[in-house]
Amino acid sequence: MKIRVNASKSYDVWIEKGARLGVADELKERGFKGKVAVISDSNVAPLYSEEMCDYLAYAGFEPYSFVFEAGEESKNLSVYAKILSFLAEEEFTRTDTVLALGGGVTGDMAGFAAATYMRGVRFVNVPTTLLAAIDSSVGGKTAVDLPQGKNLVGAFYQPDLVVCDTDFFKTLPYDEIRNGLGEGVKYAVLEGGRIFDILKQGITSENLDEFISLSIDAKRRIVEEDEKESGARKFLNLGHTIAHAVEKESNYSVPHGLAVAYGIKLMADTAKKRGELSEKDHSEIVSLLEKSDLSVDLMPLCDLIPHFSADKKRAGERLTLVTILGIGDCRLKEIALSEANEYFGV
Ligand SMILES: NC(=O)c1ccc[n+]([C@@H]2O[C@H](COP(=O)([O-])OP(=O)(O)OC[C@H]3O[C@@H](n4cnc5c(N)ncnc54)[C@H](O)[C@@H]3O)[C@@H](O)[C@H]2O)c1
Repeated sequence: MKIRVNASKSYDVWIEKGARLGVADELKERGFKGKVAVISDSNVAPLYSEEMCDYLAYAGFEPYSFVFEAGEESKNLSVYAKILSFLAEEEFTRTDTVLALGGGVTGDMAGFAAATYMRGVRFVNVPTTLLAAIDSSVGGKTAVDLPQGKNLVGAFYQPDLVVCDTDFFKTLPYDEIRNGLGEGVKYAVLEGGRIFDILKQGITSENLDEFISLSIDAKRRIVEEDEKESGARKFLNLGHTIAHAVEKESNYSVPHGLAVAYGIKLMADTAKKRGELSEKDHSEIVSLLEKSDLSVDLMPLCDLIPHFSADKKRAGERLTLVTILGIGDCRLKEIALSEANEYFGV
């Protein structure tokens, strides 16, 4: 199926088993031509890059492959600069294309290179992790990290096409599936309804495509309403203030999805304690986390709250939390940093 995202640029997200084999033909049909830089990391490249380049060459494109060392540590200015130099050395022009083939690290960094090389070239995102498929590949946030913090340099740059092939997940390690499910739980709690029910039943090969489509559609609606995060997009930060604190406190040893799941659990616990969330919805959220193998007890809130002041989503001394009043009923709540202990009952 194809989902149309109408942001500042309109583009399709094509979700289908085996879709990666049709990317080259799809690009040709859409009028892409010339050079395509396939950017992937050292885990993904040996599995899928050569195949992608072969299909592109067969369809008449001039493919080039750029591979970087897998891992968040590579999402930095130095690797980003290497991608730009690579494009320049291979004489890419404005009508050529950057294609990200990988997880969120690849998509964020290749997307930022596409946004800035010659002030913007065509960008195609082919996510190969569950997290990238349901979250990072849609919405146009591109970035690299600085030593001072994650995603501190970047741009909003919508892709021209996103292609989600669920067959990629066959080679994805279990921990990475679990990581993606953390963001999946976020959509389930924000939206309720069918996404929640699918996660409650457990993801299977039968409902995976539907789960991905529903998650992408949820993100589409939010991004269409607020592309640059001045309003509705803040809902996507559900669980994230706590998650960023967990990541920082653990020196980034806790994977993002797990940290988000824990953040959602603590937001649900807090809402129940404050009498804002019913026992029933609270226990449904807790069982959903258990079902997704995301039931973790990482660290106490009192160790996390001090990190809230470093949250880059804060405005001055105030922080916007996404509170859970029910499944499918979340609200934005602004609190002063100085009120955080009292709010969380710590
Ligand atoms: N732009 C956004 O809106 C947004 C949203 C959420 C997260 N992010 C970013 O996404 C990044 C995390 O993304 P991620 O979790 O996909 O990490 P990742 O890109 O590092 O991928 C995780 C691991 O899986 C491997 N891998 C990827 N696809 C594979 C496959 N099909 N088979 C086998 N191995 C495979 C990778 O090599 C890597 O080791 C972070 O940098 C985060 O900041 C961005």
